[in-house]
Amino acid sequence: MTSPRTIEASGLDGEVPERLVLGIETSCDETAAAVVARRADGTGRILSNVVRSQWEAHRAYGGVVPEIAARAHVECLDEIIGAAMDEAGIGWSALGGVAATAGPGLVGGLIVGLTTAKMIALVHDLPLFAINHLEAHALTVGLTDGLRPPYLLLLVSGGHTQLIDVLDVGRYDRLGTTIDDALGEAFDKTAKLLGLGFPGGPAVEAAARDGDARRFALPRPMVGRPEPNFSFAGLKTAVRTAATAIAPLSERDVADIAAAFETTAAAAVADRVRRAMALVESRRQAPPQDHVLVVAGGVAANVRLRGALAQLATAGGWRLALPPIALCTDNAAMVAWAGAERLTRGDGPDRLDAPVRARWPLDPRSAPALGSGRLGAKA
Ligand code: KG4
Ligand code: ZN
Repeated sequence: MTSPRTIEASGLDGEVPERLVLGIETSCDETAAAVVARRADGTGRILSNVVRSQWEAHRAYGGVVPEIAARAHVECLDEIIGAAMDEAGIGWSALGGVAATAGPGLVGGLIVGLTTAKMIALVHDLPLFAINHLEAHALTVGLTDGLRPPYLLLLVSGGHTQLIDVLDVGRYDRLGTTIDDALGEAFDKTAKLLGLGFPGGPAVEAAARDGDARRFALPRPMVGRPEPNFSFAGLKTAVRTAATAIAPLSERDVADIAAAFETTAAAAVADRVRRAMALVESRRQAPPQDHVLVVAGGVAANVRLRGALAQLATAGGWRLALPPIALCTDNAAMVAWAGAERLTRGDGPDRLDAPVRARWPLDPRSAPALGSGRLGAKA
């Protein structure tokens, strides 16, 4: 296996030595490939970022079907990688490494992506990086905002709801996690209950836009608890009870329930994040303006949640970093970037027999919990 390569990039950035990494993401229902560059000063740029969503293939089932997902990855991954290389305008010899998500996620899909990356590494004599999907989400702000740790990360996706103190690249301390459903999962289940589409988050958000959130008083889970954990199962039950009581639902009923759910969920998340911010402040003893709250994962697209977090950050004097929505949801640019970080640090490469891992918590010391990289979870 070759040692990491540094190449001179072409075009406007020609003067700065860069390392280029190809990333592959197949852990759930997005097939994605991307090429990113990491400059010597630690900043990055995206040369290509190709994502193909499988929503259509899963829509009829109201959720992701693992076998269908794996087959769909097999069918289009080569083409997606070809498109990412073409769009980047580079040949294999320009790459310094290849990175693929190795977990947590759906095993079939992970095997497709990681095996493809291994073949590329072998054929083109490149270092291989088997990436933790959660770490890729956690480090995305380095690529988008040039932000380096430490920072507090709120990861809110279909499979995870966690608060992580990102101490350094490779050093993560999980402060809190969900004890039952992930926030995205709660959005998806609420959408199903209200007869809205799949994926549920955007559908609930659209329905809630004209709703009156005050019509239903829903419980705010975990509010006031000292440790910043989350719980959404009770909220889901309360939504079902409210909906059943007034069924059949009119369009107005659906809008009002969706608005009440969204507002309550955002307030509950904000309360938990406030608690984590206090913990971080007591740990680092830096002035508030030096603290950064980073949000990642698909639910970070939700406007009401973004508003609640912006308010919270402003009130605490913290900076809020929200990567662009396309880089909050699953993509391969974040995987390539995590690989580039490891390449630069001399962390790796991984062996060609590196395994996939359905469950792979970011913080190995944290107690096992549903939201920490559970079997078959979407990340
Ligand atoms: O990180 P992500 O793209 O993928 C995985 O979880 O693997 O997150 C997807 C989740 C889904 O549950 C989806 O319903 C939710 O993010 N989501 C949203 C919004 N957009 C996506 N939830 C609330 N509001 C949105 N606008
Ligand atoms: Zn994800």
